[in-house]
Amino acid sequence: MKTKVKRGKFITIEGGEGSGKSTQISILVNRLQEEGVSAVKTREPGGAPTSDAIRSLLVSGEISFWEPISETMLHFAARHEHIIKTINPSLDKGLWVISDRFSDSTMAYQGYGQGVSKSIIDSLYTITADNIEPDLTLILDLEPEVGLKRAVDRNVSLSSNEDRYERMDIEFHRKLRKGFLDIAKNNPTRCRVIKAQGSLDDVSVRVWKEVSQKFLIKDI
Ligand code: TMP
Repeated sequence: MKTKVKRGKFITIEGGEGSGKSTQISILVNRLQEEGVSAVKTREPGGAPTSDAIRSLLVSGEISFWEPISETMLHFAARHEHIIKTINPSLDKGLWVISDRFSDSTMAYQGYGQGVSKSIIDSLYTITADNIEPDLTLILDLEPEVGLKRAVDRNVSLSSNEDRYERMDIEFHRKLRKGFLDIAKNNPTRCRVIKAQGSLDDVSVRVWKEVSQKFLIKDI
């Protein structure tokens, strides 16, 4: 008889520009592997070939190229592809999925930052998200001035032109920080805010504390 595989956990890491998400995700995935948990990392917009095709339309070029609602729909189209083609199949195999950004980024960037209403964002989520919700969301919180400086330095060193959102003004970045903090306040069971100031090690200890507390050793 075939034994049913226990579905994996879905963890999302959120935050403004330069908050250190991708480095912390790599550290977390390694730590989970050490504990015997098979975890995969992924990111948004992206995480599936079709979603990557949409990503390239969004992350570079003119700041005001898109109407905010069109931009929001593109993020949800990329997310739908990501959920159906990558996230759900991985969770079904029992893998834990750690995603660099998910729907809270749309609420923060397109909602708080670009003024799209919560009801539009919630409706698009219902239509596209195949009923999934993260089991845990960690929000890396950092002053936007500090994060933007880190992000600009990183783009220069990688010669990356994926800087469309980073070029948006400081007010935009302040709004989206407030957005993430509001989302955390309104979803206290799912979300944890983590101070992203300090060394990589300091932040990774904070991340692991939240993950291990949430899932306890029995789940791991
Ligand atoms: P990244 O730099 O973290 O890879 O993300 C690409 C950019 O896309 C980042 O500046 C935030 C932005 N973004 C949104 O505006 N809305 C979204 O829903 C997502 C997932 C990302």
